[in-house]
Parts: sequence; structure tokens; C-alpha cells
Amino acid sequence: MGSSSNLLKVCLSMLVFAWIANAHNIPGVYNVMHYGAVADGKFDCANAFLSAWTEACACSGSATILIPQGTFLSSAVSFKGPCKSALVFQIIGKVVAPVDLLGDNWICFEYVKGLTLTGGGTFDGQGSIAWSKQISLGFSKFPVNIRFNYCTDAIIQGISSINSKLFHIDVLGCKNIKFIAINVSAPKTSVSTDGIRIGMSTGITVSSSFIGTGDNCIFLGPGSQNIYITKILFGAGHGITIGSLGSLEKEEAVHGITVRNCTFTGTENGIRIERWHSSIFSFASNMIFEDLIMNHVKHPILIDEPYCPLGLCTFAVPTLVKISDVIFKNIRGTCTSELAVKFMCSLHNPCVGVQFNDIDLMNMGSGRPALALCSYVKSILSGNIFPSTCF
Ligand SMILES: *[C@@H]1O[C@H](CO)[C@@H](O)[C@H](O)[C@H]1NC(C)=O
Ligand SMILES: *[C@@H]1O[C@H](CO)[C@@H](O)[C@H](O)[C@H]1NC(C)=O
Repeated sequence: MGSSSNLLKVCLSMLVFAWIANAHNIPGVYNVMHYGAVADGKFDCANAFLSAWTEACACSGSATILIPQGTFLSSAVSFKGPCKSALVFQIIGKVVAPVDLLGDNWICFEYVKGLTLTGGGTFDGQGSIAWSKQISLGFSKFPVNIRFNYCTDAIIQGISSINSKLFHIDVLGCKNIKFIAINVSAPKTSVSTDGIRIGMSTGITVSSSFIGTGDNCIFLGPGSQNIYITKILFGAGHGITIGSLGSLEKEEAVHGITVRNCTFTGTENGIRIERWHSSIFSFASNMIFEDLIMNHVKHPILIDEPYCPLGLCTFAVPTLVKISDVIFKNIRGTCTSELAVKFMCSLHNPCVGVQFNDIDLMNMGSGRPALALCSYVKSILSGNIFPSTCF
């Protein structure tokens, strides 16, 4: 069994090797090297990438765009659909962004249906200089590493995004996208490097991956619906943030969020729901947070007072953000602050249908017991709840 499966592995890797070596002979493979790319990390390959994409996109048979082994510099490039068939984008090497690139986008996929992005390769945003300039230039000047705008039915598997200048991955207006076995990483000290941001999208799965970065690991904005996050190791960063609810007129609800079987290590928060102090109606409901391990997380569960940017809020107006039907189940581990759970809702908008089942969070910071603080939460408790100071 063992030796035959080893033999199989050897054969498979020889096949893959032969396939890559002969890629230019294989119909349907669009190797960027044949479109003028140079793997020296200096030549700008954006046009070569785009030419390969354009031909593959016009092809009606199966088509694979191949970025082989090597380091490829690329300025901003947008891969636009719709294409004639479902494309495979195989990146084996490393694509690096110019250090001084500005603008909204670096690598962008738009209006593409049925994309598979795979190959074990890396998108390196080379962001370290950008992080130090964000205070003087403003963060909106810098590009996101990889954008998916209005894409459907995509699989993003086995790729890495490192050192983005701004966010790593931004998913907007998409439907049915699966991220599997991806590695998103930037130093803890990096600035505005959110891992995966999702907004106005439905049916997004993120599984079996690592996300460690300087800002939110996953950010779910308005219109995030049917989102499934499972088997993720969260390293540094701010954890999962659902948010800035109530900041836009007529914003779409957040609905149907499942986070299951994840481990948070050294993150600022575990699960955070962030609301603006505004008079805009907004809803977040049907959310399940289950089987989560918190290792040295500052605030494992955080729903704090509405956020008032720039101090420009009229506190006389109550926040109109409504949180309902949320389950926290089997969440255990350690926190580094006394406040393991903070759950602040309001008199005008109490949080309803909140269930806590088997919570066990211990303070490893000050040596004092962990606390829970809440207001206006209608909750149902079951199993062991620790800390239970506010229930
Ligand atoms: C993710 O990528 C970073 C940077 O390349 C690397 O240090 C880390 O080991 C990777 N993590 C995983 C879980 O693959
Ligand atoms: C998921 O659950 C399994 C079984 O309890 C566990 O071995 C694994 O470490 C968990 N994964 C994460 C990322 O927490």
C-alpha cells in the first residue's frame, strides 16, 4: 500500500514535471514566457500576463494560463471576463509588485466566471515601504494585492498573498467563491493589511488556510451573505471583524455567517462586530461561531459600543444597527485581557436570540479572572459558561 502509493506519487510528479517542461507544446496552455515575460524580477511582465490572459480568454476549449517557476515583476493588471470558457490560472512562481506602485489595484479579476487560481505560487505586494508612508499619504493611495470584482464560481486554491501594501484579498459583488489552502501573511506590525475582505457577496467559503497579518484577518462588510469560514489558523492580526455596520445609506444586511473549527493565536480579537453610531438601519443576523480555540487573544468575543469616528456623532440618536440570532458554541482558551467577552447592545436595539453554549475563557494576562461585560443582550445559556459575570 505504502510503496505503491509512493510509486504513484513519483509517477504523478514526473507527469507534472513533464507537463510543465513541455507546456508550450500542450494545446490550451498559455505560458506567459511565450508572451514576453522575463523571470528576472526586474522586467515588468504585466503586458505579457495580459496578452496570455486575452488569448486564453478568447479560446473556447479548456485553457490554462501558466506563470512558471521564477520571480516576475508586474505592475497593475486587470484580468477581465467574461471569457469563452472556465479558465485555469496556474501560478507556480512568485509575482512581485513594484515597491512604489500606487492606485486601487494590483492584480484584479473582474467579471470572470468559473476561474481556478492555483499552483502554489505567491503574490508579493512588497508593502513595507507603503506601510511607513500610509500616515503621510493616506491608506487609500495604495493598491490591494488581489481583487475579485463581480466574479462567480471561482476556486482559489494553494496560493499565497504576502506583504500586501493595503488589503491582501478583496471580494466584491461575487458569488460562489471558494478559498482553499491559502496562506495570507504580513508582519503583525504592517498597516491596513486586512487578510480577506468580503462585501456584497454571497456563497463565499474560506477553508483550511493560514491568515496572519497586521489588521483584520477576515473582514465581513455589508452584504456578506452565506459565508462559511472553517479550519483556519489565525496568526497575528485583529481576528474576524464583521463590520462597520450602519455606515452607508441603504446598506445590505450581513446574514448567514458560519465560523467553525478555527484557532486564533495571538490575535487582537477573536470575533468582533463593529457598529457605527449612526441613524442608518442595518442588520446582522443568523451567525454561528462554533468550535473555536483562542490562544492568548486580547478580546475573544467583542461587540463594543458603537464606533464614533472623528467624534462626529450625535449620541442623542440611538444606533439603528440590529444584531439578532447569534450562536456562540464551544469557544475556549485563553485571553490576555480581563475582558474575555464584551457584548454591548442598546436599550433601543437590544441584541436578541443570542445563545451561549459551552464557553470557557481564561485570563492569562493579569492573573485575575476573566470577565464578561454586557448590556441589553437577550441571551439563552446552556452548558458551562465561563466567565459568566454578566449573564
Ligand atoms: C505562510 O507564508 C509565510 C511567508 O511566506 C511563511 O513564513 C509561513 O510559514 C506560511 N505559513 C503556512 C501555514 O504555510
Ligand atoms: C479542527 O478540528 C479538529 C478536530 O477537533 C482539530 O484537530 C483541528 O486542529 C481543528 N482545526 C483548527 C484550525 O482549529
